[in-house]
Amino acid sequence: MRVVVTGGAGFIGGSLVHALVGGGAEVTILDDLSTGSMDNIHPAAAFRCMDITDDASRAVIEAARPEVIVHLAAQVSVAASVADPDHDWTVNVGGTRAVAEAAVSAGARCVLLASSAAVYGEPVELPLTEGSHTDPAVPYGHSKLEAERVLDEVLRPAGVDFACLRFANVYGPRQRAGGEGGVVAEFASRMASGTTPVIFGTGAQTRDFIFVADVVGACVAAAEYEGVLAGPGPGGPAYNVSTGRATSVSMLAEGLRVAMRYAGEIGREPARDGDVAASVLSPEKAAETFGWRAAVDLQHGLGVTAAWFSRSR
Ligand SMILES: NC(=O)c1ccc[n+]([C@@H]2O[C@H](COP(=O)([O-])OP(=O)(O)OC[C@H]3O[C@@H](n4cnc5c(N)ncnc54)[C@H](O)[C@@H]3O)[C@@H](O)[C@H]2O)c1
Repeated sequence: MRVVVTGGAGFIGGSLVHALVGGGAEVTILDDLSTGSMDNIHPAAAFRCMDITDDASRAVIEAARPEVIVHLAAQVSVAASVADPDHDWTVNVGGTRAVAEAAVSAGARCVLLASSAAVYGEPVELPLTEGSHTDPAVPYGHSKLEAERVLDEVLRPAGVDFACLRFANVYGPRQRAGGEGGVVAEFASRMASGTTPVIFGTGAQTRDFIFVADVVGACVAAAEYEGVLAGPGPGGPAYNVSTGRATSVSMLAEGLRVAMRYAGEIGREPARDGDVAASVLSPEKAAETFGWRAAVDLQHGLGVTAAWFSRSR
């Protein structure tokens, strides 16, 4: 399979490209290294250092003749989206339009967009399903929801299949502190350096934490699926990529404390604006459609993550 991975030098993209190459795929990475790193790039993948919003990206995608495009490149920081929503929109919406148009002219079979649980905003029901109300609380969530709409607008009339994979809070090796869902990376890097990690709010807020290898598994399963992903069912082309299990931030900190053998304190600060109180996403639709389920237990995933942060300190 020929695959283009935008954002393939990033946290999730780095792991995805390693898995795709390991499975025999021919991979081309487009990444401007704004938050990604050359260290994450698999040597067997072709790499073009390029902004996806640059006009030249279309020719690079066409030349790669991808069957599948996994579009991960994005402005991923919620705080940066609040500080500069225009830039967030340019990269996440404009960039998605550019990738979708290139997918059409390159004759791709399918595009997978890295969307986010942030499209739901404060949940009105739990667990969230793909048919749940969407009302993003932050500009990042708005741009991801609009990116989903843009895919529909560009790809459906052209007959290119697509899926909007709404990732829950992803964690694992290669993650930087400060990105979306970066609480594990933030805590782990602080614990590794002996700096006090800080919980914002009570710590009772819950999230659906999913290990990066499970997210990679979902992307591969969706890429290999031979049916139609953008079908007419509830939520259309949207698929939650999640565990279906809620973990409080306090529980997460304690699990990581064990994994990191951290004996110091855990600090507390007031809750931040836009932080939702509870979030857990049902993964049933992905399981029923393309046969994927998360398999990694949280404490095991935290152990692997802790080992990586301890080594790379
Ligand atoms: N990490 C999470 O918990 C999480 C949750 C939901 C959704 N997502 C989405 O998953 C995707 C990957 O996120 P990640 O956590 O691996 O973040 P990341 O910052 O590690 O990866 C993003 C990659 O995109 C590249 N990039 C950014 N802007 C670009 C541009 N204009 N042109 C080319 N490359 C560009 C960066 O250099 C980086 O390598 C993103 O779309 C993100 O919104 C992540």
